[in-house]
Amino acid sequence: MSDKKRASFGGKLSAILVAAGSAIGLGSIWRFPYLAGEHGGAAFLLVYLLCVLIIAIPVMLGEFAVGRYTHKNAVGGFRQLSKNWQILGFNGILCALFISGYYYVIAGWSLDYLVNSINGSLYNEGINFAEQFTAFKASSWPIVYTIIFILLTHFIIIKGVEKGIEKASNIMMPILFIILIFMAIRVAFMPSAAEGYRFFLTPDFKQAFSPETLFTAAGQAFFSLSVGMGCMVTYASYFNEKTNLIGTSLSVSLLTLFVATLAGLVIFPAVFSAGLQPTEGPSLIFITLPEIFKDMPLAPLWSAIFFILIALAALTSTISFHEVLTAYIAEEHKLSRKVATYMTTGITIILSLITLLWTFDFEFMGKTFTSTFDIYDYGSANILLPLGGFFTCIFVGWVMKPSFFKNEISNYGQLPGKVAPALFILIRYIAPVLIMYIFLKGLGVF
Ligand code: PFF
Repeated sequence: MSDKKRASFGGKLSAILVAAGSAIGLGSIWRFPYLAGEHGGAAFLLVYLLCVLIIAIPVMLGEFAVGRYTHKNAVGGFRQLSKNWQILGFNGILCALFISGYYYVIAGWSLDYLVNSINGSLYNEGINFAEQFTAFKASSWPIVYTIIFILLTHFIIIKGVEKGIEKASNIMMPILFIILIFMAIRVAFMPSAAEGYRFFLTPDFKQAFSPETLFTAAGQAFFSLSVGMGCMVTYASYFNEKTNLIGTSLSVSLLTLFVATLAGLVIFPAVFSAGLQPTEGPSLIFITLPEIFKDMPLAPLWSAIFFILIALAALTSTISFHEVLTAYIAEEHKLSRKVATYMTTGITIILSLITLLWTFDFEFMGKTFTSTFDIYDYGSANILLPLGGFFTCIFVGWVMKPSFFKNEISNYGQLPGKVAPALFILIRYIAPVLIMYIFLKGLGVF
C-alpha cells in the first residue's frame, strides 16, 4: 500500500493546514462575496452552507480515501483501483489546467494592488477606481504580475512536498486567519456596517432555492473546497495511516466556511458604508474596496494588509493545483519532480498568457464569454467539478466495495466508526442524486 520513498505530511495539524490551504483561497475571499452579492447575500450563504455539508464533504472524503489508500496522483490513484476509472483522474487534470488558466491572473491583480498600496500610487488624489481597474487590465502589468505569481508558486513546489508545500501552508495559514479577523473587527466600526450585516445575514428563501442560486452555490461549494478534480486525492496521497480523514474533512470545511463568512462580514458592511452596490461582480474587491479604504485613516496600510491577505490565500491554493499537475507528470510519465515542476510552470505560463492576450465575444446559455477567463471559470466550477464530484461518489459508493470507504474513513477500525454508515449513505445515494439534480436543473435540462 504505502510507498516508503514517498513524501508525507508530518502531523495531524499539517494535514489540516495543507488541505485548508488549498481550499481557502480566492474562492472564499474573492469569488464567494461577489456571488453572494449577486444572489441575494444571506440566501446564497445558506444554500452554500447546505451544499458544503451534504455534497462537498462526502466528495472530499471519497477523494481522501482514494488518495490515502493508493498514495498516488489523481490519475494513478483511480487507475490503481480500477483501470477504466482513470478517466476521472484525467477530468481532474483538465480541470487543474482550466483553473491554472485564470486563477493566477486574479492572483496577479492582487499582487499589483498590493504593490500600489505600499507605494501609495493607488491612493493618488482624485483617482476613479473603476477607471483605474480598467486601465490596469489594459496595460502590460497584469502579464508581469501573473508571471511573478506563477514563479512564486514554482519556488514553493520545487522545494518539494514537505519543505515546500507543508512548510508554506503552516506559516501562511495562521497569518491569513489573523489578518482576516483583524479586518472584520476594523470594519465593524464603519458607519453603515449594520446594513451590510443585514444584507449578508437575513435570507430571502424565495431566492435561495431558485435553480440558478442552487447551481451557483453547488459550483462554489466544489470550487471553494477544492473537490471534484483529484486535488484532495493528490494531497491525501501524502497523508499517513494515522490521519483522521473525517476529522480533517470537517476541519477543512469549517475553516473554509469560517473564512467565507468572515470575508462577507468584511466586504458587505464596507460596501454599504461607502454607498456602493454589492452586485459589482468579479471586480467587487478591486473597485469597491479601494473606494472604502480611501476614506480611512492610513488607507495604504489597510489596503496593503487586505491585498496581502488575498495574495497569501491565493498562494496556498495555487500550490495545490500546481501539485496536481506536477505529481501527475512526474509519476505517470516517469520524470523527476524537478522536470515535472518546470513543465507545469511552463504550461501554466502559456495558458495564462492566452487568457491575458486573447479576447472574443460569444453567448452561451445566456452568459457572455469574452475571454478564456470566463470559459475556464464557468467550465471548471459549474461543469467539470460537479461532474468530477458526481462520478467520485459513484466510484466510491458503487464501484468499490462498501468496506473500502468504511475502512479508510475509520482507519481500519482504529477510530470509532459510528458515523461511517451514515457517511456511506451520503456518498452512495444522497450526494450523487442531489449533484445530478442541481446540475441538470441549473443547465435547464428539465
Ligand atoms: N479552493 C480554491 C479556492 O477556493 O480558491 C480553488 C481551488 C484550488 C480549486 C485547488 C480546485 C483545486 F483543486
